[in-house]
Amino acid sequence: MPRLVSHPDEVKIVTKRFGQGAAEIEKYIELGGYEAAKKCLAQGPDWIINEMKASNLRGRGGAGFPTGLKWSFVPKVSAKPKYVLVNGDESEPGTCKDHLIFLHDPHAVIEGTLIAGLAIGAKTGFIYLRGEYRYLLEIVEKAVADAYAKGFLGKNIFGSDTEFQVITQTGAGAYEVGEESALMESLEGKRGVPRIKPPFPAVVGLYGGPTVINNAETIATVPHVITMGAAAYAAIGSERNGGTRLFGLSGHIERPGVYELPMGYNLKKMIYEVGGGVRGGRKLKAVVPGGSSTPVLLPEEIETLGMDFDQVGKAGSMLGSGGVVVIDDQTCMVEFALRTISFYQHESCGWCIPCREGTDWLKKSLTRFHAGFGEMKDIDNIRYLAENMMGRTFCPLGDAAAMPTLGFVKKFRKEFEEHLNGKSCPFAKHVELAVV
Ligand SMILES: Cc1cc2nc3c(=O)[nH]c(=O)nc-3n(C[C@H](O)[C@H](O)[C@H](O)COP(=O)(O)O)c2cc1C
Repeated sequence: MPRLVSHPDEVKIVTKRFGQGAAEIEKYIELGGYEAAKKCLAQGPDWIINEMKASNLRGRGGAGFPTGLKWSFVPKVSAKPKYVLVNGDESEPGTCKDHLIFLHDPHAVIEGTLIAGLAIGAKTGFIYLRGEYRYLLEIVEKAVADAYAKGFLGKNIFGSDTEFQVITQTGAGAYEVGEESALMESLEGKRGVPRIKPPFPAVVGLYGGPTVINNAETIATVPHVITMGAAAYAAIGSERNGGTRLFGLSGHIERPGVYELPMGYNLKKMIYEVGGGVRGGRKLKAVVPGGSSTPVLLPEEIETLGMDFDQVGKAGSMLGSGGVVVIDDQTCMVEFALRTISFYQHESCGWCIPCREGTDWLKKSLTRFHAGFGEMKDIDNIRYLAENMMGRTFCPLGDAAAMPTLGFVKKFRKEFEEHLNGKSCPFAKHVELAVV
């Protein structure tokens, strides 16, 4: 079981039941579980959606879309069944928070799914776990079975005439199926490739029915918002960014781990005080603020940077999935760029040409570059390639590969130049990557 970390600056909301045995339904109930769902059943859909809107909860999957607003887009009346989909695919490098929720507090996900179902008038919710999280499936399935046995799920939830069923499903280990429309394709038993949008899932989603899809952390937060009250939750975060966020600190950091901090928490403080600073007392070279697809930031850019969707966006990057990757001064940024693009090249589903070919060309260029065979014009070619992938694919995987690459080239051009014309990598440590 992963070690639980802690810091005094944490505000434990989503993580407050971690380590307390709350995967057992009796413990979850003892700690106040399922009261939020009961309250929502009594209050009705409009009340729930208004609470979610007032909480300023924004999606924790990456894009930061306001949750209440998303739920409000689902038509009240629909000829087709409506669905709730929990995205537990968690595959973005640097991201390691959702698995802790499934491990320690699976009922929070189930209760949040139920509340989302009550809000939009769905009778079925799906919890989709990434393929590599099969070890969590047993825990989640037991929690679902226990909720059925208590009458919290099923034909007559809490003794009412309202029905809500929960079904679990695992992927087969593809990053792409974390993208919402590809996830729906996968759930329907098809190849996990994205759908063209519009229509958006809220109108035409799973099996053609209106569907709300949310990240597992977003969904697990929902019962807490109801219990605390939207105003109290919103008051914890920063402007337009309610509550807390599970930040995953990894890379060259003294105390890696997942920390729950208020939205807007300063990034420098997060690294130096919460995470204990750069490993071995080394100098900070750069930070990837929100998972591998988010453009890299320099030390001078994080001084006063508050970690919320708007502030990180203004700084030229993204809060993304909250995976903060710390990079020390011993790191070769060309190699870092190569490793990043290698992931996206491997995970491109191949559906759209700019992504399939673009990630491959970028990987080849960066491999050649890192091996010392690059020429000056290659730097601009890399930039040109990445720029031409942006916005030209069905789903944002192409952008996810292009954005960080552009950031590396722009901010570390000098390091790219140091690899030119047969010069070996000044940081040469991982020579195996330098093979074309
Ligand atoms: C290539 C790709 C992979 C994604 N992977 C995930 C993922 O693993 N988990 C997740 O919650 N969202 C992922 N997303 C974002 C989802 O498409 C979607 O925006 C999210 O599940 C919505 O939930 P939220 O509003 O609660 O953030 C991914 C997006 C893309 C383009």
